[in-house]
Amino acid sequence: MSSTTSTRKAVIPAAGLGTRFLPATKAMPKEMLPVVDEPAIQYVVAEAAKAGLDDILMITGRNKRSLENHFDRVPDLEATLEAKGDTDKLNAVRQATELGDLHYIRQGEAKGLGHAVLCAKRHVGEEPFAVLLGDDLIDERDELLSTMLETQERLGGSVIAVMEVPQEKISAYGVIDANGQDKVTGEDGKPADVVPVHALVEKPPVEEAPSNLAIIGRYVLHPAIFAELEQTKPGRGNEIQLTDALQAMASKPAEDGGGVHAVIFRGRRYDTGDKLSYIKAVVTLAADREDLGPDLREWLKEFVGQI
Ligand code: UTP
Repeated sequence: MSSTTSTRKAVIPAAGLGTRFLPATKAMPKEMLPVVDEPAIQYVVAEAAKAGLDDILMITGRNKRSLENHFDRVPDLEATLEAKGDTDKLNAVRQATELGDLHYIRQGEAKGLGHAVLCAKRHVGEEPFAVLLGDDLIDERDELLSTMLETQERLGGSVIAVMEVPQEKISAYGVIDANGQDKVTGEDGKPADVVPVHALVEKPPVEEAPSNLAIIGRYVLHPAIFAELEQTKPGRGNEIQLTDALQAMASKPAEDGGGVHAVIFRGRRYDTGDKLSYIKAVVTLAADREDLGPDLREWLKEFVGQI
């Protein structure tokens, strides 16, 4: 479903050091790690394009070349595949080059996600924009970004995405305080889908977590976030944290672009940011594929029987 909102721009930060994935990320960004047969970043660019965001700015770091190359045409390769009549592979190669209008900006130093987003200031200008992180993959069969764009247009301010996570995992995430509204149940007995965010806490100890709603890597931000990021001092890990700037935006008046709402996502999300969850993501997605799934599932049963 393509969005009906006026937001057109997406920012994809891909300049992190990816230290959890060393040595694979020594010479290439973690966003280029293959998830089955596409680099993680391609899923994310496709998700943005599907939501109607056709102006995509990638924030790249020291190893940007492979990212740019992946979204460029490769005439020699395409000609060879065409001559062979290999249309399946030709389409697969072309797919990444037809997703939208891609731009690149370099973040000179990995000073944090907040700093990476700030690098987009001039390109974005004065309009709301989406931010998509490459290590969170949202299943294309589930809807999130369009809902967030519509929520931002309806309520103003900024919109973040959260998911319920088990208590023992909560301290690995940014967590929202929704003033108890995450516990409010609607008429049909389901928890509310959009909640106002009162506060955001980065990676709290379990006993201090204000809810079980963890922030995941999709945002639709009001452009006033840029002025806030310019004021934001380095926080956790000595990095400029987007969460800290959003915390300040949550308490600002609406006329200053303030206010933060969270969309509660209940679909399928795959985390590719660390080794174990990446392996799980690849296996889960491959097992769902028509071409690989049947053989993989059979092998998995045998394999599980041996361990
Ligand atoms: P992470 O917090 O996962 O950090 O970044 P990282 O450096 O990429 O990975 P680890 O923790 O060292 O393994 C979240 C997102 O923000 C981007 C990353 O590329 C990732 O998409 N990011 C982070 C930047 O673009 N610039 C930064 O300075 C930091």
